[in-house]
Amino acid sequence: MIFWRVKPLNQILETAEKKALKRQLGPIQLTLLGSGAVIGTGIFVLTAEAAQKAGPAMMVSFVIAAVVCGLAAFAYAELAAMVPVSGSAYTYTYGVMGELVAWIVGWALVLEYAIGATAVCVGWSGYMNGLLMHTDFFGLVEPGALALPEWLRTGYYSGGGFNLLAFIIGVAVTWLLVIGTSKSAKVNAVLVAIKIIALTVFVAIAVPVAKSSNLEPFLPGGWGSPLGGVGVLGAAASIFFAYVGFDAVSTAAEETKNPNRNIPIGLIASLVICTIFYLLVGYGAAGSVGAQPMLGADGLPLDPGTPAMAAACVGSDALVCSNEPLAHVLRMLGFTQIGNYIGVAAIIALPSVILMMMFGQTRIFFTMSRDGLLPDALSKVHPRFFTPHVITYLTGAVVSVCGALFPVGKLADTSNAGTLLAFAMVSIGVMILRKQQPERHRPFRTPMVWLVCPLAVLGCALLFVNLSMTAKVVFIVWAMVGLLVYRLYGYRRSQLAGQGSN
Ligand code: ALA
Repeated sequence: MIFWRVKPLNQILETAEKKALKRQLGPIQLTLLGSGAVIGTGIFVLTAEAAQKAGPAMMVSFVIAAVVCGLAAFAYAELAAMVPVSGSAYTYTYGVMGELVAWIVGWALVLEYAIGATAVCVGWSGYMNGLLMHTDFFGLVEPGALALPEWLRTGYYSGGGFNLLAFIIGVAVTWLLVIGTSKSAKVNAVLVAIKIIALTVFVAIAVPVAKSSNLEPFLPGGWGSPLGGVGVLGAAASIFFAYVGFDAVSTAAEETKNPNRNIPIGLIASLVICTIFYLLVGYGAAGSVGAQPMLGADGLPLDPGTPAMAAACVGSDALVCSNEPLAHVLRMLGFTQIGNYIGVAAIIALPSVILMMMFGQTRIFFTMSRDGLLPDALSKVHPRFFTPHVITYLTGAVVSVCGALFPVGKLADTSNAGTLLAFAMVSIGVMILRKQQPERHRPFRTPMVWLVCPLAVLGCALLFVNLSMTAKVVFIVWAMVGLLVYRLYGYRRSQLAGQGSN
Protein backbone atom coordinates (compact mmCIF):
# COMPACT_ATOMS: atom_id res chain seq x y z
CA MET A 1 0.00 0.00 0.00
CA ILE A 2 1.61 3.28 -1.01
CA PHE A 3 -1.10 5.70 0.13
CA TRP A 4 -0.38 5.56 3.83
CA ARG A 5 0.15 7.97 6.71
CA VAL A 6 -2.09 10.54 5.08
CA LYS A 7 -1.83 13.76 7.04
CA PRO A 8 -5.41 14.95 7.60
CA LEU A 9 -6.11 18.09 5.57
CA ASN A 10 -7.72 19.71 8.60
CA GLN A 11 -4.48 19.25 10.54
CA ILE A 12 -2.54 20.88 7.70
CA LEU A 13 -5.03 23.73 7.56
CA GLU A 14 -4.69 24.44 11.28
CA THR A 15 -1.17 25.66 10.53
CA ALA A 16 -2.49 27.98 7.85
CA GLU A 17 -5.29 29.40 9.92
CA LYS A 18 -2.82 30.69 12.46
CA LYS A 19 -1.29 33.00 9.89
CA ALA A 20 -4.17 34.22 7.76
CA LEU A 21 -2.89 36.61 5.11
CA LYS A 22 -4.69 39.66 3.85
CA ARG A 23 -6.47 39.18 0.53
CA GLN A 24 -5.03 42.01 -1.50
CA LEU A 25 -3.76 40.69 -4.84
CA GLY A 26 -5.75 41.44 -7.98
CA PRO A 27 -5.38 40.13 -11.54
CA ILE A 28 -2.67 42.61 -12.57
CA GLN A 29 -0.47 41.93 -9.56
CA LEU A 30 -0.91 38.19 -10.12
CA THR A 31 0.06 38.50 -13.77
CA LEU A 32 3.16 40.47 -12.77
CA LEU A 33 3.99 37.91 -10.13
CA GLY A 34 3.66 35.09 -12.66
CA SER A 35 5.67 36.77 -15.41
CA GLY A 36 8.35 37.83 -12.91
CA ALA A 37 8.81 34.30 -11.70
CA VAL A 38 8.72 32.78 -15.15
CA ILE A 39 10.88 34.88 -17.51
CA GLY A 40 14.51 33.95 -16.99
CA THR A 41 17.17 31.57 -18.19
CA GLY A 42 14.64 29.64 -20.24
CA ILE A 43 14.14 32.35 -22.83
CA PHE A 44 17.41 34.23 -22.36
CA VAL A 45 19.66 31.16 -22.59
CA LEU A 46 17.87 27.90 -23.43
CA THR A 47 16.68 29.25 -26.78
CA ALA A 48 20.06 28.07 -28.10
CA GLU A 49 19.55 24.61 -26.58
CA ALA A 50 16.05 24.36 -28.06
CA ALA A 51 17.36 25.42 -31.48
CA GLN A 52 20.08 22.78 -31.31
CA LYS A 53 17.41 20.12 -30.72
CA ALA A 54 14.59 21.32 -32.95
CA GLY A 55 15.97 24.01 -35.27
CA PRO A 56 13.39 26.67 -36.25
CA ALA A 57 10.62 24.28 -35.13
CA MET A 58 11.52 25.25 -31.56
CA MET A 59 8.57 27.64 -31.90
CA VAL A 60 6.26 24.59 -31.87
CA SER A 61 8.14 23.37 -28.77
CA PHE A 62 7.36 26.63 -26.97
CA VAL A 63 3.63 26.07 -27.57
CA ILE A 64 3.67 22.41 -26.47
CA ALA A 65 5.47 23.28 -23.22
CA ALA A 66 3.05 26.16 -22.57
CA VAL A 67 0.01 23.92 -22.98
CA VAL A 68 1.32 21.29 -20.54
CA CYS A 69 2.27 23.96 -18.07
CA GLY A 70 -1.11 25.67 -18.37
CA LEU A 71 -3.06 22.45 -17.75
CA ALA A 72 -1.06 21.61 -14.64
CA ALA A 73 -1.27 25.18 -13.38
CA PHE A 74 -5.05 24.85 -12.98
CA ALA A 75 -4.65 21.78 -10.80
CA TYR A 76 -2.01 23.57 -8.78
CA ALA A 77 -4.34 26.49 -8.27
CA GLU A 78 -7.17 24.27 -7.00
CA LEU A 79 -4.99 22.64 -4.35
CA ALA A 80 -3.19 25.85 -3.50
CA ALA A 81 -6.47 27.61 -2.83
CA MET A 82 -7.79 24.71 -0.75
CA VAL A 83 -4.61 24.10 1.25
CA PRO A 84 -2.89 27.47 1.33
CA VAL A 85 0.18 26.54 3.36
CA SER A 86 3.88 26.54 2.60
CA GLY A 87 5.50 23.51 1.03
CA SER A 88 3.33 23.52 -2.15
CA ALA A 89 3.18 20.18 -3.97
CA TYR A 90 4.85 18.37 -1.07
CA THR A 91 2.21 19.51 1.42
CA TYR A 92 -0.71 18.82 -0.93
CA THR A 93 0.47 15.27 -1.60
CA TYR A 94 0.94 14.66 2.13
CA GLY A 95 -2.70 15.54 2.66
CA VAL A 96 -4.01 13.45 -0.23
CA MET A 97 -1.69 10.56 -1.00
CA GLY A 98 0.22 10.18 2.22
CA GLU A 99 3.75 10.30 3.46
CA LEU A 100 5.61 8.08 1.02
CA VAL A 101 4.32 9.86 -2.08
CA ALA A 102 4.80 13.23 -0.34
CA TRP A 103 8.39 12.34 0.45
CA ILE A 104 9.05 11.38 -3.18
CA VAL A 105 7.50 14.66 -4.36
CA GLY A 106 9.44 16.72 -1.78
CA TRP A 107 12.63 14.95 -2.78
CA ALA A 108 11.85 15.66 -6.46
CA LEU A 109 11.18 19.31 -5.65
CA VAL A 110 14.83 19.54 -4.60
CA LEU A 111 15.63 18.94 -8.24
CA GLU A 112 13.09 21.53 -9.35
CA TYR A 113 14.27 24.27 -7.04
CA ALA A 114 17.95 23.64 -6.23
CA ILE A 115 18.98 22.34 -9.64
CA GLY A 116 16.72 24.91 -11.31
CA ALA A 117 18.51 27.66 -9.38
CA THR A 118 21.80 26.15 -10.52
CA ALA A 119 20.71 26.30 -14.16
CA VAL A 120 19.87 29.98 -13.77
CA CYS A 121 23.32 30.60 -12.18
CA VAL A 122 24.96 29.07 -15.26
CA GLY A 123 22.67 31.11 -17.54
CA TRP A 124 23.64 34.28 -15.67
CA SER A 125 27.31 33.45 -16.01
CA GLY A 126 26.89 33.09 -19.81
CA TYR A 127 25.63 36.67 -20.04
CA MET A 128 28.20 38.05 -17.58
CA ASN A 129 31.06 36.38 -19.44
CA GLY A 130 29.66 37.74 -22.70
CA LEU A 131 29.56 41.25 -21.27
CA LEU A 132 33.14 41.00 -19.99
CA MET A 133 34.24 39.87 -23.45
CA HIS A 134 32.38 42.45 -25.51
CA THR A 135 32.04 45.70 -23.65
CA ASP A 136 34.55 48.49 -23.14
CA PHE A 137 32.75 49.70 -19.98
CA PHE A 138 32.19 53.21 -21.37
CA GLY A 139 35.68 53.46 -22.83
CA LEU A 140 37.44 52.57 -19.58
CA VAL A 141 39.02 49.38 -20.92
CA GLU A 142 39.68 47.69 -24.26
CA PRO A 143 36.74 45.36 -25.16
CA GLY A 144 37.66 41.93 -23.82
CA ALA A 145 40.36 43.19 -21.44
CA LEU A 146 38.35 41.95 -18.45
CA ALA A 147 37.35 38.61 -19.99
CA LEU A 148 38.09 35.54 -17.90
CA PRO A 149 40.39 32.86 -19.28
CA GLU A 150 38.44 30.33 -21.33
CA TRP A 151 38.65 27.49 -18.77
CA LEU A 152 36.96 29.67 -16.13
CA ARG A 153 34.00 30.48 -18.38
CA THR A 154 32.24 27.10 -18.62
CA GLY A 155 32.02 24.04 -16.40
CA TYR A 156 34.09 20.89 -16.66
CA TYR A 157 31.20 18.81 -18.01
CA SER A 158 30.48 21.22 -20.84
CA GLY A 159 34.02 21.11 -22.19
CA GLY A 160 35.52 23.85 -19.96
CA GLY A 161 37.04 23.85 -16.46
CA PHE A 162 35.39 25.75 -13.62
CA ASN A 163 32.53 28.15 -14.25
CA LEU A 164 33.73 30.82 -11.85
CA LEU A 165 30.90 33.32 -12.29
CA ALA A 166 28.16 30.69 -11.81
CA PHE A 167 29.92 29.74 -8.57
CA ILE A 168 30.17 33.36 -7.42
CA ILE A 169 26.52 34.23 -8.10
CA GLY A 170 25.45 31.06 -6.22
CA VAL A 171 27.49 32.13 -3.20
CA ALA A 172 26.20 35.72 -3.39
CA VAL A 173 22.53 34.71 -3.49
CA THR A 174 23.09 32.28 -0.60
CA TRP A 175 24.45 35.15 1.45
CA LEU A 176 21.45 37.35 0.57
CA LEU A 177 19.09 34.59 1.68
CA VAL A 178 20.93 34.02 4.95
CA ILE A 179 20.72 37.70 5.87
CA GLY A 180 17.02 37.57 5.14
CA THR A 181 16.49 39.11 1.70
CA SER A 182 13.24 37.92 0.21
CA LYS A 183 10.98 38.84 -2.63
CA SER A 184 9.63 42.35 -2.65
CA ALA A 185 6.66 43.19 -4.82
CA LYS A 186 8.14 46.55 -5.88
CA VAL A 187 11.54 45.14 -6.85
CA ASN A 188 9.73 42.36 -8.68
CA ALA A 189 7.68 44.85 -10.70
CA VAL A 190 10.86 46.72 -11.73
CA LEU A 191 12.62 43.49 -12.73
CA VAL A 192 9.61 42.29 -14.74
CA ALA A 193 9.65 45.64 -16.55
CA ILE A 194 13.38 45.28 -17.32
CA LYS A 195 12.87 41.77 -18.69
CA ILE A 196 9.85 42.75 -20.77
CA ILE A 197 11.63 45.82 -22.19
CA ALA A 198 14.68 43.69 -23.07
CA LEU A 199 12.56 41.10 -24.86
CA THR A 200 10.54 43.81 -26.63
CA VAL A 201 13.70 45.52 -27.90
CA PHE A 202 15.00 42.17 -29.12
CA VAL A 203 11.74 41.43 -30.95
CA ALA A 204 11.58 44.94 -32.44
CA ILE A 205 15.05 44.55 -33.95
CA ALA A 206 15.09 40.87 -34.93
CA VAL A 207 11.56 40.24 -36.23
CA PRO A 208 11.57 42.87 -39.03
CA VAL A 209 14.76 41.37 -40.53
CA ALA A 210 13.56 37.75 -40.29
CA LYS A 211 13.53 35.90 -43.62
CA SER A 212 11.51 32.80 -44.32
CA SER A 213 14.55 31.27 -46.06
CA ASN A 214 16.29 31.19 -42.66
CA LEU A 215 13.52 28.93 -41.37
CA GLU A 216 14.38 26.19 -43.88
CA PRO A 217 14.69 23.30 -43.11
CA PHE A 218 12.07 23.83 -40.45
CA LEU A 219 12.35 20.43 -38.76
CA PRO A 220 16.03 19.42 -38.94
CA GLY A 221 15.83 17.36 -35.74
CA GLY A 222 12.48 15.65 -36.48
CA TRP A 223 9.72 15.34 -33.89
CA GLY A 224 11.61 13.28 -31.34
CA SER A 225 12.87 9.80 -30.53
CA PRO A 226 11.72 7.12 -28.07
CA LEU A 227 14.92 7.74 -26.07
CA GLY A 228 14.16 11.45 -25.79
CA GLY A 229 16.49 14.43 -25.84
CA VAL A 230 16.04 15.35 -29.52
CA GLY A 231 13.61 16.95 -31.94
CA VAL A 232 10.60 19.15 -31.29
CA LEU A 233 9.47 17.12 -28.26
CA GLY A 234 13.00 17.02 -26.82
CA ALA A 235 13.18 20.79 -27.17
CA ALA A 236 9.71 21.15 -25.59
CA ALA A 237 10.88 19.05 -22.62
CA SER A 238 13.88 21.38 -22.15
CA ILE A 239 12.12 24.65 -22.84
CA PHE A 240 9.46 23.69 -20.29
CA PHE A 241 11.99 25.27 -17.94
CA ALA A 242 11.12 28.65 -19.43
CA TYR A 243 7.61 28.34 -17.95
CA VAL A 244 8.51 26.99 -14.53
CA GLY A 245 7.57 29.39 -11.79
CA PHE A 246 3.84 29.49 -12.44
CA ASP A 247 3.29 27.90 -9.06
CA ALA A 248 4.05 31.42 -7.79
CA VAL A 249 0.59 32.49 -8.99
CA SER A 250 -1.12 29.36 -7.70
CA THR A 251 0.48 29.57 -4.29
CA ALA A 252 -0.65 33.17 -3.88
CA ALA A 253 -4.26 31.99 -3.83
CA GLU A 254 -4.58 32.68 -0.12
CA GLU A 255 -3.65 36.35 -0.64
CA THR A 256 -5.87 36.88 -3.67
CA LYS A 257 -9.11 38.81 -3.83
CA ASN A 258 -11.85 36.71 -5.41
CA PRO A 259 -9.48 33.80 -6.21
CA ASN A 260 -12.04 31.92 -8.30
CA ARG A 261 -11.93 34.65 -10.89
CA ASN A 262 -8.49 36.20 -10.43
CA ILE A 263 -6.31 33.10 -10.18
CA PRO A 264 -7.29 31.77 -13.63
CA ILE A 265 -6.92 35.28 -15.06
CA GLY A 266 -3.44 35.62 -13.51
CA LEU A 267 -2.40 32.17 -14.69
CA ILE A 268 -3.71 32.45 -18.20
CA ALA A 269 -2.60 36.05 -18.69
CA SER A 270 0.98 35.39 -17.61
CA LEU A 271 1.08 32.18 -19.62
CA VAL A 272 -0.27 33.87 -22.75
CA ILE A 273 2.01 36.92 -22.38
CA CYS A 274 5.09 34.72 -21.92
CA THR A 275 4.15 32.41 -24.78
CA ILE A 276 3.64 35.33 -27.18
CA PHE A 277 7.00 36.81 -26.19
CA TYR A 278 8.75 33.46 -26.45
CA LEU A 279 7.28 32.80 -29.90
CA LEU A 280 8.29 36.24 -31.15
CA VAL A 281 11.78 35.86 -29.68
CA GLY A 282 12.10 32.37 -31.20
CA TYR A 283 10.89 33.62 -34.58
CA GLY A 284 13.14 36.70 -34.43
CA ALA A 285 16.22 34.67 -33.49
CA ALA A 286 15.66 31.87 -36.00
CA GLY A 287 14.43 34.11 -38.81
CA SER A 288 17.17 36.73 -38.54
CA VAL A 289 20.37 34.73 -38.10
CA GLY A 290 19.15 31.15 -38.59
CA ALA A 291 18.77 28.44 -35.96
CA GLN A 292 20.14 25.32 -37.62
CA PRO A 293 21.71 22.71 -35.32
CA MET A 294 25.35 21.59 -35.37
CA LEU A 295 25.37 18.11 -36.87
CA GLY A 296 27.57 15.17 -35.89
CA ALA A 297 29.30 12.72 -38.26
CA ASP A 298 26.03 10.73 -38.43
CA GLY A 299 24.18 13.75 -39.78
CA LEU A 300 22.09 14.12 -36.61
CA PRO A 301 22.10 17.13 -34.25
CA LEU A 302 24.81 16.87 -31.58
CA ASP A 303 23.75 16.65 -27.95
CA PRO A 304 23.97 20.21 -26.56
CA GLY A 305 26.17 20.86 -23.53
CA THR A 306 28.58 18.02 -24.33
CA PRO A 307 32.32 18.25 -25.06
CA ALA A 308 31.54 17.09 -28.65
CA MET A 309 29.22 20.06 -29.08
CA ALA A 310 31.81 22.39 -27.50
CA ALA A 311 34.42 21.10 -29.99
CA ALA A 312 32.05 21.59 -32.96
CA CYS A 313 31.36 25.15 -31.80
CA VAL A 314 35.00 26.27 -31.71
CA GLY A 315 35.24 29.31 -33.96
CA SER A 316 31.55 29.14 -34.93
CA ASP A 317 29.17 32.05 -34.46
CA ALA A 318 26.05 29.90 -34.88
CA LEU A 319 23.14 30.78 -32.58
CA VAL A 320 23.11 27.25 -31.14
CA CYS A 321 26.69 27.71 -29.89
CA SER A 322 26.03 30.86 -27.89
CA ASN A 323 25.78 31.01 -24.10
CA GLU A 324 24.00 34.36 -24.41
CA PRO A 325 21.90 33.82 -27.55
CA LEU A 326 19.75 36.97 -27.45
CA ALA A 327 22.72 39.33 -27.04
CA HIS A 328 24.61 37.29 -29.63
CA VAL A 329 21.85 37.63 -32.26
CA LEU A 330 21.78 41.41 -31.86
CA ARG A 331 25.56 41.64 -32.14
CA MET A 332 25.43 39.54 -35.31
CA LEU A 333 22.82 41.90 -36.70
CA GLY A 334 25.22 44.81 -36.07
CA PHE A 335 23.57 46.12 -32.89
CA THR A 336 26.55 45.47 -30.62
CA GLN A 337 25.74 48.07 -28.00
CA ILE A 338 22.06 47.08 -27.76
CA GLY A 339 23.15 43.45 -27.53
CA ASN A 340 25.31 44.44 -24.57
CA TYR A 341 22.33 46.21 -22.96
CA ILE A 342 20.20 43.06 -23.37
CA GLY A 343 23.02 41.26 -21.59
CA VAL A 344 22.94 43.83 -18.79
CA ALA A 345 19.16 43.35 -18.46
CA ALA A 346 19.63 39.59 -18.08
CA ILE A 347 22.46 40.16 -15.59
CA ILE A 348 20.26 42.42 -13.46
CA ALA A 349 17.09 40.33 -13.65
CA LEU A 350 18.22 36.70 -13.46
CA PRO A 351 19.52 36.76 -9.86
CA SER A 352 15.94 37.35 -8.64
CA VAL A 353 14.94 34.04 -10.29
CA ILE A 354 17.85 32.31 -8.51
CA LEU A 355 16.79 33.92 -5.24
CA MET A 356 13.20 32.80 -5.66
CA MET A 357 14.12 29.22 -6.50
CA MET A 358 16.61 28.88 -3.65
CA PHE A 359 14.09 30.44 -1.29
CA GLY A 360 11.53 27.82 -2.40
CA GLN A 361 14.06 25.06 -1.82
CA THR A 362 14.90 26.12 1.70
CA ARG A 363 11.22 26.41 2.65
CA ILE A 364 10.41 22.92 1.30
CA PHE A 365 13.30 21.42 3.28
CA PHE A 366 12.17 23.42 6.28
CA THR A 367 8.64 22.01 6.05
CA MET A 368 9.94 18.45 5.56
CA SER A 369 12.18 18.74 8.56
CA ARG A 370 9.33 20.16 10.68
CA ASP A 371 7.34 17.06 9.68
CA GLY A 372 10.18 14.91 11.03
CA LEU A 373 11.23 13.55 7.64
CA LEU A 374 14.60 15.33 7.73
CA PRO A 375 16.77 16.02 10.78
CA ASP A 376 15.77 18.88 13.07
CA ALA A 377 19.22 20.41 12.81
CA LEU A 378 18.39 21.41 9.23
CA SER A 379 15.56 23.70 10.28
CA LYS A 380 17.65 25.62 12.84
CA VAL A 381 16.95 29.32 12.61
CA HIS A 382 19.74 31.91 12.67
CA PRO A 383 19.77 33.74 16.03
CA ARG A 384 20.16 37.17 14.46
CA PHE A 385 18.67 36.96 10.97
CA PHE A 386 15.83 34.50 11.83
CA THR A 387 16.39 32.60 8.59
CA PRO A 388 16.87 28.81 8.23
CA HIS A 389 20.61 29.30 7.71
CA VAL A 390 21.82 25.69 7.94
CA ILE A 391 19.60 24.56 5.11
CA THR A 392 20.39 27.70 3.15
CA TYR A 393 24.16 27.09 3.39
CA LEU A 394 23.68 23.48 2.35
CA THR A 395 21.53 24.43 -0.64
CA GLY A 396 23.95 27.22 -1.56
CA ALA A 397 26.92 24.87 -1.52
CA VAL A 398 25.19 22.41 -3.85
CA VAL A 399 23.99 25.18 -6.19
CA SER A 400 27.39 26.90 -6.40
CA VAL A 401 29.46 23.75 -6.91
CA CYS A 402 27.06 22.20 -9.46
CA GLY A 403 26.87 25.56 -11.25
CA ALA A 404 30.64 25.59 -11.55
CA LEU A 405 30.73 22.17 -13.20
CA PHE A 406 27.63 21.32 -15.25
CA PRO A 407 26.07 22.60 -18.50
CA VAL A 408 22.93 24.72 -18.33
CA GLY A 409 20.77 22.49 -20.54
CA LYS A 410 21.38 19.29 -18.58
CA LEU A 411 20.70 21.16 -15.34
CA ALA A 412 17.46 22.59 -16.70
CA ASP A 413 16.37 19.14 -17.93
CA THR A 414 17.07 17.62 -14.52
CA SER A 415 15.12 20.39 -12.83
CA ASN A 416 12.26 19.76 -15.26
CA ALA A 417 12.20 16.05 -14.34
CA GLY A 418 11.44 16.98 -10.71
CA THR A 419 8.92 19.63 -11.70
CA LEU A 420 7.06 17.31 -14.07
CA LEU A 421 6.69 14.70 -11.33
CA ALA A 422 5.35 17.31 -8.93
CA PHE A 423 2.91 18.69 -11.54
CA ALA A 424 1.63 15.20 -12.38
CA MET A 425 1.17 14.31 -8.70
CA VAL A 426 -0.72 17.51 -8.02
CA SER A 427 -3.05 16.81 -10.97
CA ILE A 428 -3.67 13.27 -9.69
CA GLY A 429 -4.20 14.66 -6.18
CA VAL A 430 -6.93 17.01 -7.44
CA MET A 431 -8.83 14.10 -8.98
CA ILE A 432 -8.51 11.93 -5.86
CA LEU A 433 -9.77 14.73 -3.63
CA ARG A 434 -12.73 15.47 -5.90
CA LYS A 435 -13.80 11.85 -5.35
CA GLN A 436 -12.84 11.50 -1.68
CA GLN A 437 -13.98 14.85 -0.35
CA PRO A 438 -16.41 16.34 -2.88
CA GLU A 439 -18.06 18.54 -0.25
CA ARG A 440 -14.87 20.29 0.91
CA HIS A 441 -14.82 24.04 0.25
CA ARG A 442 -12.82 24.86 -2.90
CA PRO A 443 -12.11 28.58 -3.37
CA PHE A 444 -10.96 27.76 -6.90
CA ARG A 445 -12.19 24.85 -9.03
CA THR A 446 -10.30 23.51 -12.06
CA PRO A 447 -12.59 23.92 -15.07
CA MET A 448 -13.48 20.62 -16.82
CA VAL A 449 -11.44 18.79 -14.22
CA TRP A 450 -11.90 15.30 -15.71
CA LEU A 451 -10.42 16.50 -18.98
CA VAL A 452 -7.84 19.00 -17.76
CA CYS A 453 -6.22 16.85 -15.05
CA PRO A 454 -5.80 13.63 -17.07
CA LEU A 455 -4.40 15.69 -19.97
CA ALA A 456 -1.99 17.41 -17.56
CA VAL A 457 -0.74 14.02 -16.34
CA LEU A 458 -0.34 12.76 -19.91
CA GLY A 459 1.42 15.97 -20.97
CA CYS A 460 3.87 15.71 -18.06
CA ALA A 461 4.56 12.06 -18.95
CA LEU A 462 5.15 12.97 -22.60
CA LEU A 463 7.63 15.70 -21.71
CA PHE A 464 9.34 13.50 -19.12
CA VAL A 465 9.97 10.76 -21.68
CA ASN A 466 11.45 13.36 -24.03
CA LEU A 467 13.97 14.73 -21.54
CA SER A 468 17.63 13.96 -22.18
CA MET A 469 18.77 10.54 -21.01
CA THR A 470 21.18 12.13 -18.49
CA ALA A 471 18.30 13.93 -16.78
CA LYS A 472 16.18 10.79 -16.60
CA VAL A 473 19.03 8.72 -15.17
CA VAL A 474 19.87 11.42 -12.59
CA PHE A 475 16.20 11.57 -11.66
CA ILE A 476 15.92 7.81 -11.13
CA VAL A 477 19.15 7.61 -9.12
CA TRP A 478 18.01 10.61 -7.06
CA ALA A 479 14.63 8.95 -6.42
CA MET A 480 16.31 5.73 -5.29
CA VAL A 481 18.62 7.59 -2.91
CA GLY A 482 15.51 9.36 -1.63
CA LEU A 483 13.69 6.10 -0.92
CA LEU A 484 16.73 4.84 0.97
CA VAL A 485 16.92 8.00 3.05
CA TYR A 486 13.21 7.71 3.81
CA ARG A 487 13.51 4.07 4.85
CA LEU A 488 16.52 4.78 7.09
CA TYR A 489 15.35 8.09 8.55
CA GLY A 490 11.94 9.62 7.82
CA TYR A 491 9.99 6.38 8.14
CA ARG A 492 10.98 6.11 11.81
CA ARG A 493 11.29 9.77 12.74
CA SER A 494 8.19 11.17 11.04
CA GLN A 495 5.81 13.17 13.23
CA LEU A 496 3.00 10.90 12.04
CA ALA A 497 4.95 7.78 13.09
CA GLY A 498 5.08 9.38 16.53
CA GLN A 499 1.28 9.68 16.47
CA GLY A 500 1.08 5.94 15.83
CA SER A 501 -0.37 6.39 12.36
CA ASN A 502 0.93 4.04 9.67
N1 ALA B 1 11.27 29.94 -15.75
C1 ALA B 1 12.46 30.29 -15.09
C2 ALA B 1 13.57 30.57 -16.02
O1 ALA B 1 13.42 30.41 -17.20
C3 ALA B 1 12.85 29.25 -14.11
O2 ALA B 1 14.64 30.97 -15.58
